[in-house]
Amino acid sequence: MEHDKKTILITGGAGYIGSHTAWLLAKKGFHVLVLDDLSQTSFFSSSFSHRWAEFVQGDYGDAQLLARLFSTYRITAVMHFAAFTVVSESVQHPLNYYQNNVSKTVTLLDAMVKHNVLTMIFSSSCAVYGNPLFVPLTEEHPCAPISPYGTTKYMIELMLKECEAAYGLQYVALRYFNAAGALPYEGLGEQHVPETHGIPLLLHAAVTGKPFYLFGTDYETKDGTCIRDYVHVRDIADAHHKALLHLVQHKNPSDVFNLGSGVGHSVKELIAAVEYVTKKELLVIPTARRKGDPAVLVADPAKAMTILQWNPLHSDLALMIQSAWLFEQSLEHVRKLGTKAYLQTNE
Ligand SMILES: NC(=O)c1ccc[n+]([C@@H]2O[C@H](COP(=O)([O-])OP(=O)(O)OC[C@H]3O[C@@H](n4cnc5c(N)ncnc54)[C@H](O)[C@@H]3O)[C@@H](O)[C@H]2O)c1
Repeated sequence: MEHDKKTILITGGAGYIGSHTAWLLAKKGFHVLVLDDLSQTSFFSSSFSHRWAEFVQGDYGDAQLLARLFSTYRITAVMHFAAFTVVSESVQHPLNYYQNNVSKTVTLLDAMVKHNVLTMIFSSSCAVYGNPLFVPLTEEHPCAPISPYGTTKYMIELMLKECEAAYGLQYVALRYFNAAGALPYEGLGEQHVPETHGIPLLLHAAVTGKPFYLFGTDYETKDGTCIRDYVHVRDIADAHHKALLHLVQHKNPSDVFNLGSGVGHSVKELIAAVEYVTKKELLVIPTARRKGDPAVLVADPAKAMTILQWNPLHSDLALMIQSAWLFEQSLEHVRKLGTKAYLQTNE
């Protein structure tokens, strides 16, 4: 099938950040081809039904499927989100992570090179840095990941660099900090299974009255809890669009960028903000620290702001929580109504 529009292949486009980016690219006039195996089954991915994207259910490590897609469509660039993403799980099952994140990326890159598709935007992570030697973290901070998950991201960054030298691949690796927020009116938001991220867990606690476990209250921070940098998923999507233009339109060189707001919030501040937005008092149970959680992770986003002209406009904490809260409430509606009924009422 031929399109006048430029086609962007989005691996993992049914997931949290991939689906928001797919939505934005469709709005910007691209033909969006989502490849996702729906392995991280959640309500929205298991019933992927967004009209603005063409959806292919499959494994991005399936060489035959990739050959078919690359020969059927004239693909301008690949945005590569698909991955396993839970740090603690990667410690327990590192080989699953090397298999799904690294080995399959070798297959994907091989298919791209064979079909002369030489542009990739890659979802990297602040997990590549390991324990910070200084904050805010700049891209020059040494990469010393402390989890298999972080190592898989760093290995892929190294592969991309070597593919650039060998095959002329052009790439941008975007190192996200903590993605947050939602586009509730588009039916998009965060719902990982299992959920390990703070904001959706807090919102779920607000809806259900179940406890929220606070990991670590003895960190060397202003209130003893971890400090993280939250960046709206809409701003991350925007950075992908800008990274695409950076490579394809402006023919700029490959590069690596932090995506964070540059502002740190402690978990206690997060709890207070969620209580303010939801108008509910949460049951918070302090517990021991989780392994592999650095005390502070805050980005210096100056490089993306200068070179990509990126501006994280939506990354105000209360507004991010507000959008995620609206989404969580729609999910609650789904849980009560059942998936089929919800989809019918929203057609
Ligand atoms: N969420 C964050 O805060 C954050 C922070 C840093 C980096 N990242 C990275 O961003 C990317 C997207 O994260 P997310 O939060 O949207 O995760 P997500 O789990 O919501 O989305 C990942 C998607 O990839 C799909 N997938 C996994 N393995 C696949 C395979 N072999 N073939 C096809 N599809 C497959 C899943 O079904 C899922 O829909 C990931 O690479 C993640 O490591 C996320």
